[in-house]
Amino acid sequence: MKTAKLILDGKEYEFPVVAGSENEVGIEIGALRSKTGVITLDPGYLSTGSCKSAITFIDGDKGVLRYRGYPIEQIAESSATFSEIAYLLIYGHLPSTNEYDDWRRRLTLDSFIHEDMLKFFEGFPTNAHPMAILSSMMSSLSAYHLDSFEGGDMDHNIVQVLAKAKTIAAFSYKKSVGGPFIYPLTTLSYPANFLRMMFATPAEEYVVSPVLERALNLLLILHADHEQNCSTSTVRMVGSSHANLFASISAGISALWGPLHGGANQAVIDMLDRIVANGGDCKSFVAQVKDKKSSIRLMGFGHRVYKNYDPRARILKKVVDEVLTEIGVTDPRLDVAKQLEEIALSDDYFIKRRLYPNVDFYSGTLYHAMGIPPQMFTVMFALGRMPGWIAHWKEWHDDPNSRIHRPRQIYIGEEERTFVPMDKR
Ligand code: SDX
Repeated sequence: MKTAKLILDGKEYEFPVVAGSENEVGIEIGALRSKTGVITLDPGYLSTGSCKSAITFIDGDKGVLRYRGYPIEQIAESSATFSEIAYLLIYGHLPSTNEYDDWRRRLTLDSFIHEDMLKFFEGFPTNAHPMAILSSMMSSLSAYHLDSFEGGDMDHNIVQVLAKAKTIAAFSYKKSVGGPFIYPLTTLSYPANFLRMMFATPAEEYVVSPVLERALNLLLILHADHEQNCSTSTVRMVGSSHANLFASISAGISALWGPLHGGANQAVIDMLDRIVANGGDCKSFVAQVKDKKSSIRLMGFGHRVYKNYDPRARILKKVVDEVLTEIGVTDPRLDVAKQLEEIALSDDYFIKRRLYPNVDFYSGTLYHAMGIPPQMFTVMFALGRMPGWIAHWKEWHDDPNSRIHRPRQIYIGEEERTFVPMDKR
């Protein structure tokens, strides 16, 4: 076995070196503290792996993304549905026809939320952010479905999360516009059901645009998993305490909300709107981004892992043109986005830092073309990421060697001192 040597205070220590199926190499340092009394320190986990995983592979330098070994480009080009890819990520293989038919039937039949849960919406203010609603309603599902650690059925709970998330999301939009909730139809696909629940009214038949159904199907697939990103690591962390699936997914929703992570798609549209409003002056905006005194970032650009073009952004950039043309929409934001990309990709500031468009750079323009409001964009990311979060929670749950996540720290606070009673302070 290959090993790595560490020399500390003149003493030499050896640690095993592991290699993954794509030859990623890691030094197993679990015994470091017991052998040496010291720990590693890696804020932000720039060089720290938290687990071995067989779900998704990313090569950031080459811009490679594969779900269970299948390249994202092949999946995007195929006729695969989001629920089919969700099955692949969660159970590890592409479903047979029978497996798929049963999976789809369960996902549509279980799309309804308990009628008592409708009352929860009455408590939210009309302007409540839909991510707040989604995370709290997701956690509340644990009150209706027995946890698999308490004897409940994990596969049943997995279906509840996937099937009900889109219903809660659509209902949170209807709540924000004061519209009546539209119930799912078991005859529609996941994306078509969602679009209908978002935009239909009881007053007339709503026909889902096949172009938008296909575009949403692709958007959901492209967001479905991304190895140990911030929100997925959160789901694993929370699940490692044997918290139930609903509570773990709810924590992932909260982590995704941040503008540095899933909240970036809403931040991108706000950024594009600001540039359009000031006459489309991309050059001066990029100058502000490069000015270290400004805290302005080019949202939708940069990535901890991709130091090349995010393959998802490349796919979306192609599709967004096709969709807008097919539905006869022009969007000044898209022109601005393309100008920003062109300027940034030839500017040394971005080249030196290897900053490229990421999945969030173009997704908002597509969501907007579907009529989805910016406040719902991060919810759309969460709907896409549900299968990935579930797959990682299950992978941790199924591994007999999994342990609760409990990182160490380097203490830099006060040294020991004597407590001072109130009357002596
Ligand atoms: C997602 O992890 C995942 O896989 C996430 C995700 C997924 O599918 O789950 O891919 C989804 O979250 C995509 C990222 C969405 N976020 C954004 O678009 C927000 C803008 N991007 C950045 O804030 C940033 O690039 C991050 C958060 C994405 C990555 O942060 P890092 O790896 O900690 O990089 P960093 O902040 O240390 O930046 C390195 C340098 C810095 O400059 P210097 O200090 O070296 O001079 O690059 C600069 C940063 O200032 N930089 C940017 C920038 N991103 C990084 N400068 C301007 N604009 C940016 N967008």
